[in-house]
Formats: sequence, C-alpha cells, structure tokens
Amino acid sequence: MSDTMTRLDAACYHAAPGFMAHLEGELPEPYRRDGDLLTVLGEERTAYWTRNVWKEPFTAEFGSISDAARLLKGVQRNWAHYPTRNARRGELIAAALPPLPSKPKAFPFSVPGAPMGAFTLLDEHTLLASAACSSPWPNGRLDFAEDREGPPSRAYRKLWEALVMAGAMPGPGRRCVDAGACPGGWTWALAGLGAEVIAIDRAPIDDRVAAMPGVSFVKHNAFTIKPEDIGPVDWFCSDVICYPPALYDWVSLWLDSGLARNFVCTIKMQGTEWDRQTVARFAAIPGSRVLHLWHNKHELTWLLVRD
Ligand SMILES: C[S@@+](CC[C@H](N)C(=O)[O-])C[C@H]1O[C@@H](n2cnc3c(N)ncnc32)[C@H](O)[C@@H]1O
Repeated sequence: MSDTMTRLDAACYHAAPGFMAHLEGELPEPYRRDGDLLTVLGEERTAYWTRNVWKEPFTAEFGSISDAARLLKGVQRNWAHYPTRNARRGELIAAALPPLPSKPKAFPFSVPGAPMGAFTLLDEHTLLASAACSSPWPNGRLDFAEDREGPPSRAYRKLWEALVMAGAMPGPGRRCVDAGACPGGWTWALAGLGAEVIAIDRAPIDDRVAAMPGVSFVKHNAFTIKPEDIGPVDWFCSDVICYPPALYDWVSLWLDSGLARNFVCTIKMQGTEWDRQTVARFAAIPGSRVLHLWHNKHELTWLLVRD
C-alpha cells in the first residue's frame, strides 16, 4: 500500500440486487453509503445478502485519470468499477486499466486465480477501493454463455454457478439426487456432465430431460423419501420450494445417514422476510458455506463440498 492510500478499518458490503433491506437488517448503521455499497466500521461481518464484499477497503487521493489508473495498476491487474458518484470519470479510469473479460463464460470452468478488485469514486479526486473482494466476478456479476435450447428452465445457471464456486463437480460414474427437479434444468445440467441423476419431484420433468442417458425420475414427495431408499450419492442437490426448516430437517437425515458426500441446496425464503435462524443453522454445519449467488433470487445457496 503506497503512502497516498489510507486503509480503512472497515468492510464495504455491496447489496445483492433488490435485497438492500435484507442487508441493512444484517449490519449495524453504516459509516457511509455509496449507492448500494454500505461501508461498516470494524472487522468484516457475516452478511449473506451481498453481491460482493470489499474486504480491505482503502481511500486514495489522485490528480488525473491516468494517476488513478496508475495507482490501481500498481496494486493489481483486475479492477471492476462500481459507478456511484462521478460515474463518467470512473468509467474513464476503468478504460485506462487492463480490460476485464467481457464475454459470457462457457461452463464448465474454474474460478480464476487472479483477484478481482473493486473501486468507486467518492469525489473527483478520491477513490474508495479494495483489492481483496469476496466475489471473483466483477461487482459479483457472472454471465454464462447460455444454452437456450437444451434446458427446460433457466434455473440450471444457478447450479452451474454453485458448482463453479464449489470448485468440484460430478461427472461420469458419479451419482446425484436432484430433489425438486421439475421442469428439469438442474437434472439437465447434471446429466450433461455425464453423471447419473435420480430426479425427484411431485410434478413430472420435461420428457427430453427424462430421456437423457443416466436420468431416472421418481414422482414423489421428496421429504418422505429416506436416504436408505436411494442409497449412497456423490452429490445431493435440492431446489425444492419449501419452508427452510423442512429442508434443514431432510438434509439432516442425509447428513446423519452418511450416504451423501456433497450438497448443493437452495434455501428459499417465503414472503418478504428471510429465515435467519434456519440460515444460521445451515451455516453452522461444519465445512459448509452459505452464499447469495448472482443467479439466486429470494434464496440463498448452501454448499457442503467434501470432494
Ligand atoms: C424451483 S422449482 C425447481 C426447478 C428445477 N431445479 C429446475 O432446474 O428446473 C421447485 C420444484 O420443487 C417441487 N417441490 C415442491 N415441494 C416438493 C416436495 N415436497 N417434493 C418434491 N418436489 C417438491 C415443485 O414441484 C417444483 O417443481
């Protein structure tokens, strides 16, 4: 850190689109607000409803646009601009920085090794920035090269993102459960990786997905199926619409059975509130992560990856 930079004893929380009220409820009164970015003093806190967290924010005074770009480049290569004030000037700084990949990503791929920073302008001559951020994507945004023909729903993007974040994925010879599978986006994604998929839903899945190699469909209430009825699975996936405690209880059965190795589950919130208590219970399961993915709506993703 150069002497023109001042490290803040704070973290900046960039709200997930549409979920500022949830984020405000997770944090104490911010020290400052810049658009959807809340700067809160003190050590980084657990906050789920974010698209990105700026972990080590600093401010820096600069003269010209090229001075600002030089200053940022001196720290690292990748910087995403979050436009708040002086947005045009911020864009010009961004244009003077090494370009970020702009094309939608073709799945599968790995999380890039190089860190992704973020910056905004507090005024014409002051940057607020962080080289270390929670999301590897610019401002938390991840766009996939989409398949508009194969999958029967766009929910598959959520599973793709979860698997990229997991840093592991099922492939040939792996067995997966996909609960709440209808119309079949997740099953399509898992079968597309070559895995065997037991798709469970009370409603039928798309015929073309049901006919994919390795897919078997079970028309049933998922919660009345016991782990022993299915046997060992490498990946337990659930996108069931249900109250979070019902999912927690069913997941607990699987955890206790020892029959599932890796988990990707959507914790779906009902109405306008969110179930903090159950989210905290999921987060407390050793080795797990709870994330708001770019492709999540009013829901969080619980990941437990042991591969
Ligand atoms: C959001 S959709 C899943 C979308 C799916 N992941 C995809 O990629 O196409 C939620 C599904 O949960 C199913 N569901 C809700 N309660 C269920 C239960 N108790 N057992 C099985 N499926 C259930 C619904 O029928 C619905 O198809």
